[in-house]
Amino acid sequence: MKVEFYRHNISQKDIDNAVGVLNSLFLTTGEVVNEFEDKFSRYLGCRHTVGVNSCTAALHLSLLACGIGPGDEVITTPMTFISSANSIIYTGATPVFVDVEPETGNINADFIESTITSKTKAILPVHLYGQMSDMRKIREIADKHHLAVIEDAAHAIEALRNGVRPGQLGDAACFSFYATKNITSGEGGAVSTNNEEIAEKLKKLRLHGMSKAAAERYSKRYEHWDMEMLGWKYNMSNIQAALLLDQIENIDRNWKRRESICRMYEDAFMSNPHICLPKVLPSSKSARHLFTIQVHPAKRDEMLRQLQEKGIGVAVNFRAIHLLTFYRQTFGYQRGMYPIAERIGDGAITLPLYPKLSDEEVRYVIKVVKDVTTSSGNVLGYHDGRA
Ligand SMILES: Cc1ncc(COP(=O)(O)O)c(C=O)c1O
Repeated sequence: MKVEFYRHNISQKDIDNAVGVLNSLFLTTGEVVNEFEDKFSRYLGCRHTVGVNSCTAALHLSLLACGIGPGDEVITTPMTFISSANSIIYTGATPVFVDVEPETGNINADFIESTITSKTKAILPVHLYGQMSDMRKIREIADKHHLAVIEDAAHAIEALRNGVRPGQLGDAACFSFYATKNITSGEGGAVSTNNEEIAEKLKKLRLHGMSKAAAERYSKRYEHWDMEMLGWKYNMSNIQAALLLDQIENIDRNWKRRESICRMYEDAFMSNPHICLPKVLPSSKSARHLFTIQVHPAKRDEMLRQLQEKGIGVAVNFRAIHLLTFYRQTFGYQRGMYPIAERIGDGAITLPLYPKLSDEEVRYVIKVVKDVTTSSGNVLGYHDGRA
């Protein structure tokens, strides 16, 4: 049996919506993007959304909109996709890592304050695998030290923790609609915020700092535009927005299916001494973006190979960023500096998780994982997920 790592969920309705745009006059940022932005804001319970062409762009522009620039430090986690840290570097600021919680893989809020210096200007938590970081604690620390909070919510559209959703406590929350995300336009992203000033600035920053977007210029009598600040070319197109409109309608139904797949995996792996699982905390609803297991680091790569040989698509989310060549060479990071993130990165295997995965496929994955872990012979010494 072949079980793909990911299969998108784009429906005929999504395709029809995109074709509708292709048959219309206006392909780039216009009315359909506005419609998407309103719908996404309503779903999140946030006042504003600004559509862009990736989450990386969303992070970069959110940092700029919060005034982050050369000489500043931004606190983030090494257990994430490189985008979170790279976007800090794009602004001229320096990413400063804080190690993660062993149970969730999220930034350990208890370690943040001791890392703050006079240069620190923002905290960039990542809601790993779909579970939110402790936003109440992070907001409290940020307020005490006058820092901005930019959430990397690429995995976490549907998440909720202690009554808080992405974008509600952060100054800005950034989302990804990349090909494997919970809703997708192939490539795409958005920033949601309750701060009108940030939203207005983001709208300019996503389009070269221009005072008027093409849709505004075209629909009225011609008016000259000005360039008020240096911006980037990061705007979302009407085609991307059209693909997303109906996916927002179905987002909770699809979440339910992923939740039930995760429960099947968890029930099957819970008492397996070769595997430990990240914990979804009782106060938390995970968006269930990625399902990862932790296996013995010495056996991980061999297990990846065996799972692939048996037809199962796998990934690693994520190898700790500070150990990647660029980060080692540029900032002098070494193994041992963020031990929890390193251990997660060395032992993680991500299994297939998407609504189209059938129960039969899930059972096959469970069986193969069981066979492969049992034959590895290495029993983990931290089965409850703790260090
Ligand atoms: C945690 C995290 N942040 C940011 C990104 C970047 O998203 P995009 O590819 O839309 O730029 C990703 C993408 O996979 C991600 O996993």
